[in-house]
Amino acid sequence: MRILVLHGPNLNLLGEREPDVYGRATLEVINRAMEAWAAEHGATLRILQSNHEGALIEAIHEARRWADGILINPGALTHYSYALRDAIAAVALPTVEVHLSNVYAREPFRHRSVIAPVCLGQISGFGVQSYLLGLEALRKHLRGT
Ligand code: DQA
Repeated sequence: MRILVLHGPNLNLLGEREPDVYGRATLEVINRAMEAWAAEHGATLRILQSNHEGALIEAIHEARRWADGILINPGALTHYSYALRDAIAAVALPTVEVHLSNVYAREPFRHRSVIAPVCLGQISGFGVQSYLLGLEALRKHLRGT
């Protein structure tokens, strides 16, 4: 099982960025937790963080050649990037959207995801666990249980 993991804009600043909202875990800590999950489940992850919409889109295009699924925290692109949404729809790989914070308990502009309709589902509000729950959901989907 090969999974592309994407972190969108500003997530490189986790740990120092609004810790009351996003917690104190750095991106490295989150990535290590996901790698531990992958080792346990015989999965291979390719992880990319980018502040550039185009780089995320290109990684999604590439994924159609090698990945079984995508886990993505699109950051603020969640709320307005039709280009990212179209890329996910185009490659038609099972995709799970995750968020550290509960976007529905925050500002109204965060209540809308233009990405979620082209995903299997969305997990929001569980901090680092959102990523691990998302990987688990993807695994269960891919193995058909
Ligand atoms: C986020 C929520 C988004 O609204 C925000 O723009 C982020 C992080 C989250 O993980 O909670 O950058 O995706």
